[in-house]
Amino acid sequence: MTQKTVSDAIQYRRAVRTFDPCKPIDTTIVRTCIEQATLAPSSSNMQLWAFYHIVNQEVKAKIVSYCFDQSAAKTANEMVVVVVRKDLWRKRIQSNLNYLKKVYGDKPLSEQSGREKFAKAYYSKLMPFTYFDFLGIFGWIKYLLFFIIGLFRPVYREVRHKDMRVVAHKSAGLAAQTFMLGMAAYGYDTCPMEGSDTLRIKRLLKLPYGAEINMVIGCGIRKPEGVYGERFRIPFDEVYKKW
Ligand SMILES: Cc1cc2nc3c(=O)[nH]c(=O)nc-3n(C[C@H](O)[C@H](O)[C@H](O)COP(=O)(O)O)c2cc1C
Repeated sequence: MTQKTVSDAIQYRRAVRTFDPCKPIDTTIVRTCIEQATLAPSSSNMQLWAFYHIVNQEVKAKIVSYCFDQSAAKTANEMVVVVVRKDLWRKRIQSNLNYLKKVYGDKPLSEQSGREKFAKAYYSKLMPFTYFDFLGIFGWIKYLLFFIIGLFRPVYREVRHKDMRVVAHKSAGLAAQTFMLGMAAYGYDTCPMEGSDTLRIKRLLKLPYGAEINMVIGCGIRKPEGVYGERFRIPFDEVYKKW
């Protein structure tokens, strides 16, 4: 199957609201695009995401109703639910540390290069400090601490519970877009949806309390009328600021 170039895929991708029921999609290609989505960059390479590929028609029907019966959900052949797993931060830190151990070995501190020391300290000290919180209280303490230090030098400020949620959703959003562009490259269509009952979807997918729904993506092949008109964008000069 020939694939579009990145520029062509960007141009081709539209939020498709009606998919063609007569044009099936290949589940393995959707899976490949999800695999490509995991190559998206993520904050500190924490990869605090999970992708639920919905192919079961019964499960899909439930998600359709949780997406308020939107056409983009109702007519989709398959769906992908992008989930933020900020709650897995300890596990992801450990995976990064295991990876570093594999790359650098398990040398004593005195034999470690500067880069190795930095990378290991980053995941064993800085990341736990950044992600740890207790009822949001520690986040505020960190925030105030950095605010005071920030009076004298540039500091990282996204340390409160709400900031960390944004951090995790940002990376999941990049993965979602990577997925949609990957699909477009195959001539497959998608529609990102945040209009959904996220609590019901969480329960259906048996997700733990700490997981959050980033978006639901309907997948299929467009009907011409499934694209609602010409693309509308704010004039580029209004959003492009060259300094
Ligand atoms: C985070 C996000 C949530 C969205 N939620 C919905 C949605 O619930 N229903 C829908 O029909 N479109 C949804 N959209 C699609 C946007 O409306 C669409 O991307 C926008 O109108 C631009 O059109 P285009 O993607 O075809 O260029 C969403 C898009 C994003 C990025």
